[in-house]
Amino acid sequence: MNTRYNTPQIKPFAIIAFLLLSFLLNLSSVSAQDAEKLFKQNCAVCHSLGKNKITGPGLEGIAARAPSDDWLRKWIKNNKELIKSGDPYALKIFAESNGADMTVFTDLKDEEINSLIALIKNPPKEKVAVASAPEAGVAKEEQNGVNPLGILIGIISFLIIIIAVLRGVSHSLKNIQNEKEGLPNEEAIGVWGEIKLWMKDHKRTLAVIILFVTGGLLSSGWYALKEIGVYTGYQPTQPIAFSHKIHAGENAINCQYCHSGVEKSKIAGIPSVNICMNCHKGISKGPNTGTAEIAKIYEAAGWDPEKAEYNKPQKPIEWVKVHNLQDFVYFSHQQHVKVGKQECVTCHGDLKEMTTAKQVSPLTMVWCIECHRKTEVPGMKDNKYYESLHKKLAEKYKGQTITVDKMGGIECGKCHY
Ligand code: HEC
Ligand code: HEC
Ligand code: HEC
Ligand code: HEC
Ligand code: HEC
Ligand code: HEC
Repeated sequence: MNTRYNTPQIKPFAIIAFLLLSFLLNLSSVSAQDAEKLFKQNCAVCHSLGKNKITGPGLEGIAARAPSDDWLRKWIKNNKELIKSGDPYALKIFAESNGADMTVFTDLKDEEINSLIALIKNPPKEKVAVASAPEAGVAKEEQNGVNPLGILIGIISFLIIIIAVLRGVSHSLKNIQNEKEGLPNEEAIGVWGEIKLWMKDHKRTLAVIILFVTGGLLSSGWYALKEIGVYTGYQPTQPIAFSHKIHAGENAINCQYCHSGVEKSKIAGIPSVNICMNCHKGISKGPNTGTAEIAKIYEAAGWDPEKAEYNKPQKPIEWVKVHNLQDFVYFSHQQHVKVGKQECVTCHGDLKEMTTAKQVSPLTMVWCIECHRKTEVPGMKDNKYYESLHKKLAEKYKGQTITVDKMGGIECGKCHY
């Protein structure tokens, strides 16, 4: 008995066209994610998508403030040129920023800038909430929206079931016909049976579907992997409510007074309780927390404020590390702060405005390399660390700016042991 019967043929090419369409939709949503990545890599150091000011103004409501998209395009590409041209809005915001400077982004492509403009004009809601709530604990950068791949798989399964059901219906119709003509009935084989049969009949279409689904899974897996270990926005609660804003901001205490390692070692270092005591022997009350938090310093130092003497054992303060670069990466503060003349704010954001320290840079490999590609090696002439190297480089790249990558700053071995 022949179990093959006529089915309403769903043409394989229709399915392929449908898959291609879904794939393209999928692609366009990836590019929204790319815009967020671009923002993280290039802008998040200085801008939040919400109201918060970092070095630059918070970008919430930019669509209403900025003169036009065209203005935004010019500004993001080369703000210096726009300021020089005497553009009134550019001059106004530059004047309001008290001399803070925005980086020039001539190396961004037009479509990248357009995607950034779309993002800052219409930021994803939860990002704004996170960005304008500095006290929010770990601001994990969740992928927003529904996973397009999930939708794709859902639609494909739905289609296959529809096809199977249609085949079932056609099967029954055929049987009615058979009955009329006195021919024997074909067995009903159920939805799963129909699916199996359809698969057997459409091996090529099936192969295409499998290809797309695995490809999709692999690529979204890749994106997910790239997000692992990225802790931008990480801001743990600390054992003492130490405020950078009060110390480095309002009281203008130099960063190096407490982080004395920055110019002479790989690590910046967290100050010991003795450093706190240099000042807090005399300051037992704070403007926001009264005596409660400073009492914890005394506790840790073994200091008795009433008798004004050290008469108890010391207990180190267990600060929670905010930045955690993987062990297989070599990073030196001395190299960046002293030799490379990079400002703390470029990598750490404006601590003078932060109460609890927070990670503002992604600390990913891309982040390191992007900066090495565009940052000029400073003080080529009077840099005795690399005098002969610099001389050679200056000859090799006559007239060009010598960026960190040109002196080998993106060789794997420089950052990986
Ligand atoms: C090094 C810090 C820095 C970086 C990086 C930076 N900006 Fe800015 N941005 C500023 C400052 C500061 C201002 C205020 C104007 C001035 O002083 O030049 C500003 C102003 C702006 C404005 C106008 C804001 C307003 O309120 O009108 C926009 C839009 C903008 N930046 C977008 C971007 C985008 C997009 C990126 C990433 C491609 C970026 N910025 C990267 C510092 C930065
Ligand atoms: C009075 C001492 C003091 C001063 C001044 C100070 N800090 Fe800190 N800093 C600390 C302490 C204590 C911690 C640990 C608690 C915390 O993370 O908030 C810390 C933490 C940090 C962290 C996070 C470290 C980590 O765990 O990854 C950074 C980054 C940082 N400081 C940068 C700066 C910068 C930049 C300045 C100058 C603008 C500065 N600090 C000024 C005491 C100080
Ligand atoms: C160079 C001096 C100096 C050092 C060092 C210093 N502080 Fe302070 N601290 C101050 C001053 C000034 C104030 C503000 C007092 C005021 O405004 O009444 C303050 C205030 C505080 C407050 C109260 C904040 C508030 O909002 O109520 C805490 C908590 C504190 N410091 C913790 C620390 C810790 C922890 C360390 C060591 C890591 C430290 N300080 C090191 C000068 C210092
Ligand atoms: C804000 C820009 C910036 C960022 C971000 C940055 N670097 Fe650098 N880096 C520099 C500059 C500038 C130099 C050149 C210093 C000099 O003159 O030797 C440098 C030099 C280096 C060197 C020495 C290269 C050589 O050829 O000797 C290493 C290693 C390095 N960086 C590692 C890192 C790592 C790892 C990260 C990320 C965790 C990172 N850097 C992020 C600006 C940056
Ligand atoms: C080129 C980027 C860059 C610059 C500039 C920079 N830092 Fe850092 N900083 C980092 C990175 C990356 C880490 C994480 C290092 C790790 O986990 O091993 C870090 C960690 C820290 C820490 C905590 C861990 C430690 O090393 O003790 C402190 C405190 C700190 N930085 C302070 C500063 C201060 C203060 C300045 C300015 C004088 C500064 N940093 C300049 C990138 C930078
Ligand atoms: C400027 C510094 C820098 C240079 C140059 C560099 N890396 Fe990295 N690399 C990092 C940092 C920082 C991380 C950890 C953060 C991350 O995973 O993105 C990392 C992570 C990695 C990882 C682990 C990936 C992961 O997601 O955990 C691999 C593999 C790697 N690098 C390979 C390389 C190779 C190969 C090269 C040379 C082509 C290279 N790196 C050059 C800084 C650098």
